[in-house]
Amino acid sequence: MKDQYGREITYLRLSVTDLCNLRCVYCMPERGVEKLSHSDILSVEEIGELAQAAAELGITKLRLTGGEPLVRHGILDICRLVAQTSGIAETCLTTNGTLLTKSASASLNYAEALRECGVSRLNISLDTLDPERYAKLTRGGELKTALDGIEAARAAGFADIKINTVLISGVNEAEIRKLVELTRGTETRGELHVRFIEMMPIGEAAEWASERFLENSAVLRAVTELAPVGLDGVARLYRLPGATGTVGLISPISSHFCPDCNRVRVTSDGKLKPCLHSADEIPLRGLHGDDLLQAMRAAIFGKPQRHALGGKAISKSTRSMNAIGG
Ligand code: GTP
Ligand code: 5AD
Ligand code: SF4
Repeated sequence: MKDQYGREITYLRLSVTDLCNLRCVYCMPERGVEKLSHSDILSVEEIGELAQAAAELGITKLRLTGGEPLVRHGILDICRLVAQTSGIAETCLTTNGTLLTKSASASLNYAEALRECGVSRLNISLDTLDPERYAKLTRGGELKTALDGIEAARAAGFADIKINTVLISGVNEAEIRKLVELTRGTETRGELHVRFIEMMPIGEAAEWASERFLENSAVLRAVTELAPVGLDGVARLYRLPGATGTVGLISPISSHFCPDCNRVRVTSDGKLKPCLHSADEIPLRGLHGDDLLQAMRAAIFGKPQRHALGGKAISKSTRSMNAIGG
């Protein structure tokens, strides 16, 4: 369906948990993440119902996010339900990748199980290729688990895997070229796409000094051979000569893409967020059938025109990224 500004809304990002096994410095506080009680979180059945209502309103792509979706109990049932929903053509999942090699059953790891449940695409977060820096940025994570996770996803047959990198000035800036090189692929492995995401002043990063935010133009300055090859949703795409994968620049700060926004979000406790950076939240829990459809329709229609980030403005969202779904 269209919102009040005529934007076609076809994409729902649904957070299945606000918990995570990592603590990325720009995303989550080190301590004091309040664990929502089991009954505060959408149940598997509620998620199924929501997916169906969303499909009836014209949503064709549904992304499961978190926190880390793979720490959610019943994640495979959720994936199966969503993927089987008529009208949902694409079931995607964004993960930090560290749990993809874990056993999901006697014979399958999580990457394989996700694929079997009907997940069509994976996006995996990776901000650095340096083990010490990875441990620091994620507050204790092990780089190898994320790299093994990427391999497991490829081995399970996922194509067009996108790597999400958030650039932080003076931290991983010097690694831009190395990360871009991942798009070359190798003979034995398929391609990877790498996307640089401008850090947004939301959650933990809302308190950070402006010097730590880096515009995506830094990528083009660091790797001058990158040639523009088009657009993919909110990302501007580039390619290294001879590379199979693409480099995407997602630049919510330096060139906000609100006029083309096609998405809404649902938090893990069942609130519809029409815009990532607005404080508006419409509670959906307890609603069923026509009541649910009507509430969602009104919320999507009322989606705000744009966010006001940039300069000194910070997000008006009252929650951090782990609670909203990245
Ligand atoms: P594709 O389906 O592969 O296009 O995925 P995606 O880019 O929509 O999903 P992903 O979870 O990989 O998101 C990448 C990052 O883009 C997020 O983590 C956010 O940082 C940023 N992003 C996603 N949606 C929005 C949005 O609505 N507004 C802004 N400002 N940034 C967003
Ligand atoms: N700015 C930009 N991206 C962020 N993410 C988390 N916090 C922020 C932020 N403040 C990204 C992660 C991951 C996705 C789920 O959200 O890097 O790729
Ligand atoms: Fe977890 Fe992703 Fe947030 Fe890192 S960015 S703490 S991996 S939810």
